[in-house]
Amino acid sequence: MTAGPCREPIDPVRFISNRSSGKMGFALAEAARDFGGEVSLVTGPVALNDPHGVETVRVETTEEMFKAVKKRFGKADILIMSAAPADFRPSEIAKFKIKKGGKNLSLSLQPTIDILKSLKEKRKKKQVVVGFALETDRALENASAKLKSKGLDLIVLNSMEDGTPFDSDTNKVTLLYTDGRKEDLGRSDKKSLAHDLIQRILDIKK
Ligand code: CTP
Repeated sequence: MTAGPCREPIDPVRFISNRSSGKMGFALAEAARDFGGEVSLVTGPVALNDPHGVETVRVETTEEMFKAVKKRFGKADILIMSAAPADFRPSEIAKFKIKKGGKNLSLSLQPTIDILKSLKEKRKKKQVVVGFALETDRALENASAKLKSKGLDLIVLNSMEDGTPFDSDTNKVTLLYTDGRKEDLGRSDKKSLAHDLIQRILDIKK
Protein backbone atom coordinates (compact mmCIF):
# COMPACT_ATOMS: atom_id res chain seq x y z
CA MET A 1 0.00 0.00 0.00
CA THR A 2 1.21 3.49 -0.70
CA ALA A 3 -0.20 6.72 0.68
CA GLY A 4 0.26 10.46 0.84
CA PRO A 5 2.15 12.97 -1.26
CA CYS A 6 5.83 13.05 -2.15
CA ARG A 7 8.12 16.03 -1.67
CA GLU A 8 10.75 17.08 -4.16
CA PRO A 9 13.34 19.48 -2.71
CA ILE A 10 14.08 22.84 -4.34
CA ASP A 11 16.66 23.98 -1.78
CA PRO A 12 17.38 23.04 1.88
CA VAL A 13 14.13 24.65 3.08
CA ARG A 14 11.65 24.38 0.17
CA PHE A 15 9.95 21.64 -1.78
CA ILE A 16 7.31 20.89 -4.44
CA SER A 17 4.44 18.71 -3.31
CA ASN A 18 0.66 18.25 -3.58
CA ARG A 19 -2.40 18.27 -1.35
CA SER A 20 -2.70 14.53 -0.65
CA SER A 21 -3.45 13.88 3.05
CA GLY A 22 -2.79 10.13 3.06
CA LYS A 23 -6.16 9.44 4.72
CA MET A 24 -7.39 7.08 1.98
CA GLY A 25 -4.14 5.08 1.91
CA PHE A 26 -4.03 4.74 5.69
CA ALA A 27 -7.70 3.68 5.76
CA LEU A 28 -6.91 1.06 3.09
CA ALA A 29 -3.91 -0.22 5.05
CA GLU A 30 -6.06 -0.62 8.16
CA ALA A 31 -8.87 -2.30 6.22
CA ALA A 32 -6.42 -4.74 4.57
CA ARG A 33 -4.98 -5.54 8.01
CA ASP A 34 -8.50 -6.12 9.37
CA PHE A 35 -9.15 -8.58 6.52
CA GLY A 36 -6.11 -10.53 7.80
CA GLY A 37 -3.50 -9.16 5.39
CA GLU A 38 0.17 -8.69 6.17
CA VAL A 39 0.47 -5.04 5.19
CA SER A 40 3.38 -2.76 4.32
CA LEU A 41 2.46 0.90 4.03
CA VAL A 42 4.90 3.13 2.17
CA THR A 43 3.89 6.70 2.86
CA GLY A 44 5.02 10.18 2.01
CA PRO A 45 4.98 12.92 4.70
CA VAL A 46 1.53 13.02 6.34
CA ALA A 47 0.18 13.98 9.76
CA LEU A 48 -1.08 10.48 10.61
CA ASN A 49 0.22 7.95 13.13
CA ASP A 50 1.56 4.53 12.11
CA PRO A 51 -1.40 2.12 12.04
CA HIS A 52 -1.08 -0.77 14.52
CA GLY A 53 0.04 -4.04 13.04
CA VAL A 54 1.17 -2.50 9.75
CA GLU A 55 4.79 -2.14 8.64
CA THR A 56 4.97 1.62 8.01
CA VAL A 57 7.80 3.02 5.91
CA ARG A 58 8.15 6.82 5.75
CA VAL A 59 9.65 8.34 2.60
CA GLU A 60 9.94 11.83 1.11
CA THR A 61 10.65 11.79 -2.61
CA THR A 62 9.11 9.81 -5.46
CA GLU A 63 12.47 8.08 -5.98
CA GLU A 64 12.49 6.96 -2.32
CA MET A 65 8.91 5.74 -2.63
CA PHE A 66 9.83 3.82 -5.79
CA LYS A 67 12.77 2.08 -4.06
CA ALA A 68 10.68 1.14 -0.99
CA VAL A 69 7.85 -0.24 -3.16
CA LYS A 70 10.20 -2.10 -5.52
CA LYS A 71 11.91 -3.79 -2.57
CA ARG A 72 8.58 -5.20 -1.35
CA PHE A 73 6.82 -5.79 -4.69
CA GLY A 74 8.33 -9.23 -5.39
CA LYS A 75 6.80 -10.70 -2.22
CA ALA A 76 3.47 -8.89 -2.48
CA ASP A 77 0.19 -10.44 -3.64
CA ILE A 78 -1.43 -7.04 -4.02
CA LEU A 79 -0.12 -3.52 -4.67
CA ILE A 80 -2.47 -0.59 -4.10
CA MET A 81 -0.97 2.74 -5.18
CA SER A 82 -3.13 5.34 -3.50
CA ALA A 83 -0.18 7.71 -3.05
CA ALA A 84 0.14 10.90 -5.06
CA PRO A 85 3.82 10.84 -6.06
CA ALA A 86 5.24 14.03 -7.53
CA ASP A 87 5.33 13.90 -11.32
CA PHE A 88 8.19 16.42 -11.58
CA ARG A 89 11.22 17.33 -9.54
CA PRO A 90 13.60 20.28 -9.78
CA SER A 91 16.44 19.39 -12.18
CA GLU A 92 18.88 20.79 -9.64
CA ILE A 93 18.61 21.11 -5.88
CA ALA A 94 20.18 24.37 -4.70
CA LYS A 95 22.82 23.75 -2.03
CA PHE A 96 21.91 26.93 -0.17
CA LYS A 97 18.57 28.65 0.40
CA ILE A 98 17.60 30.55 -2.76
CA LYS A 99 17.54 34.30 -2.03
CA LYS A 100 14.73 36.46 -3.39
CA GLY A 101 16.67 39.26 -5.09
CA GLY A 102 13.45 40.87 -6.45
CA LYS A 103 13.47 39.10 -9.83
CA ASN A 104 11.30 36.34 -11.29
CA LEU A 105 12.55 32.85 -10.61
CA SER A 106 12.14 29.97 -13.06
CA LEU A 107 12.57 26.41 -11.94
CA SER A 108 13.58 23.73 -14.38
CA LEU A 109 11.61 20.55 -13.65
CA GLN A 110 12.24 17.04 -14.89
CA PRO A 111 9.89 14.06 -14.80
CA THR A 112 10.16 11.63 -11.89
CA ILE A 113 9.86 7.89 -12.30
CA ASP A 114 6.34 6.50 -12.85
CA ILE A 115 6.27 3.83 -10.13
CA LEU A 116 3.38 1.79 -11.52
CA LYS A 117 4.68 1.85 -15.09
CA SER A 118 8.15 0.81 -14.06
CA LEU A 119 6.81 -2.20 -12.11
CA LYS A 120 4.68 -3.36 -15.06
CA GLU A 121 7.42 -5.61 -16.45
CA LYS A 122 8.20 -7.10 -13.03
CA ARG A 123 4.65 -8.21 -12.42
CA LYS A 124 3.88 -11.84 -11.66
CA LYS A 125 0.72 -13.39 -13.08
CA LYS A 126 -1.18 -13.73 -9.83
CA GLN A 127 -0.39 -10.27 -8.48
CA VAL A 128 -3.20 -7.74 -8.37
CA VAL A 129 -2.20 -4.13 -9.02
CA VAL A 130 -4.56 -1.25 -8.26
CA GLY A 131 -4.10 2.41 -9.10
CA PHE A 132 -5.97 5.61 -8.30
CA ALA A 133 -6.74 8.47 -10.65
CA LEU A 134 -7.62 12.09 -10.10
CA GLU A 135 -8.79 13.85 -13.24
CA THR A 136 -10.11 17.35 -13.81
CA ASP A 137 -11.32 16.73 -17.38
CA ARG A 138 -12.40 13.75 -19.53
CA ALA A 139 -12.21 11.71 -16.33
CA LEU A 140 -13.45 8.30 -17.55
CA GLU A 141 -11.43 8.45 -20.76
CA ASN A 142 -8.20 9.47 -18.98
CA ALA A 143 -8.65 6.96 -16.16
CA SER A 144 -9.30 4.07 -18.53
CA ALA A 145 -6.18 5.05 -20.54
CA LYS A 146 -4.19 4.88 -17.25
CA LEU A 147 -5.70 1.46 -16.47
CA LYS A 148 -4.17 0.18 -19.73
CA SER A 149 -0.88 2.08 -19.87
CA LYS A 150 0.01 1.21 -16.26
CA GLY A 151 -1.06 -2.43 -16.62
CA LEU A 152 -3.58 -2.30 -13.76
CA ASP A 153 -6.32 -4.73 -12.73
CA LEU A 154 -8.44 -1.93 -11.32
CA ILE A 155 -8.37 1.86 -11.26
CA VAL A 156 -10.19 3.91 -8.63
CA LEU A 157 -11.32 7.22 -10.11
CA ASN A 158 -11.82 9.95 -7.52
CA SER A 159 -14.82 12.18 -8.09
CA MET A 160 -14.19 15.92 -8.43
CA GLU A 161 -17.93 16.73 -8.16
CA ASP A 162 -17.65 18.42 -4.77
CA GLY A 163 -14.11 19.72 -5.21
CA THR A 164 -10.95 17.71 -4.65
CA PRO A 165 -11.03 14.67 -2.36
CA PHE A 166 -7.88 15.92 -0.57
CA ASP A 167 -8.03 16.07 3.20
CA SER A 168 -11.73 15.20 3.15
CA ASP A 169 -12.98 12.39 5.39
CA THR A 170 -15.33 11.21 2.68
CA ASN A 171 -14.81 10.19 -0.91
CA LYS A 172 -16.87 9.23 -3.95
CA VAL A 173 -15.26 6.95 -6.51
CA THR A 174 -15.89 5.08 -9.74
CA LEU A 175 -14.15 1.74 -10.26
CA LEU A 176 -12.96 0.78 -13.74
CA TYR A 177 -12.11 -2.87 -14.38
CA THR A 178 -10.06 -4.39 -17.22
CA ASP A 179 -13.14 -6.07 -18.75
CA GLY A 180 -14.71 -2.62 -19.28
CA ARG A 181 -16.97 -2.88 -16.25
CA LYS A 182 -17.68 0.40 -14.46
CA GLU A 183 -18.98 0.60 -10.88
CA ASP A 184 -20.02 3.79 -9.07
CA LEU A 185 -19.67 3.71 -5.30
CA GLY A 186 -21.76 6.36 -3.54
CA ARG A 187 -20.16 8.96 -1.29
CA SER A 188 -19.03 7.43 1.98
CA ASP A 189 -16.42 7.96 4.65
CA LYS A 190 -12.93 6.83 3.70
CA LYS A 191 -12.97 4.01 6.28
CA SER A 192 -16.05 2.26 4.92
CA LEU A 193 -14.95 2.98 1.36
CA ALA A 194 -11.60 1.34 2.18
CA HIS A 195 -13.44 -1.74 3.45
CA ASP A 196 -15.55 -1.96 0.25
CA LEU A 197 -12.47 -1.50 -1.95
CA ILE A 198 -10.46 -4.21 -0.20
CA GLN A 199 -13.47 -6.55 -0.52
CA ARG A 200 -13.55 -5.97 -4.29
CA ILE A 201 -9.79 -6.28 -4.66
CA LEU A 202 -9.91 -9.63 -2.84
CA ASP A 203 -12.66 -10.73 -5.26
CA ILE A 204 -10.31 -9.97 -8.18
CA LYS A 205 -7.53 -11.92 -6.42
CA LYS A 206 -9.70 -15.10 -6.15
N1 CTP B 1 1.68 7.07 -9.93
C1 CTP B 1 2.90 6.39 -9.93
N2 CTP B 1 4.07 7.08 -10.15
C2 CTP B 1 4.04 8.41 -10.39
C3 CTP B 1 2.80 9.10 -10.44
C4 CTP B 1 1.64 8.40 -10.21
O1 CTP B 1 2.92 5.18 -9.72
N3 CTP B 1 5.19 9.05 -10.60
C5 CTP B 1 0.44 6.31 -9.68
C6 CTP B 1 -0.46 6.91 -8.61
O2 CTP B 1 -0.16 6.41 -7.32
C7 CTP B 1 -1.84 6.46 -9.05
C8 CTP B 1 -1.72 6.38 -10.58
O3 CTP B 1 -0.31 6.32 -10.87
O4 CTP B 1 -2.16 5.18 -8.59
C9 CTP B 1 -2.31 7.54 -11.32
O5 CTP B 1 -1.83 8.75 -10.77
P1 CTP B 1 -2.27 10.14 -11.37
O6 CTP B 1 -1.58 11.23 -10.61
O7 CTP B 1 -3.77 10.20 -11.52
O8 CTP B 1 -1.72 10.07 -12.86
P2 CTP B 1 -0.31 10.30 -13.48
O9 CTP B 1 0.23 8.98 -13.92
O10 CTP B 1 0.55 11.10 -12.58
O11 CTP B 1 -0.70 11.10 -14.81
P3 CTP B 1 -1.18 12.63 -14.99
O12 CTP B 1 -0.61 13.40 -13.82
O13 CTP B 1 -0.58 13.02 -16.28
O14 CTP B 1 -2.68 12.61 -15.01
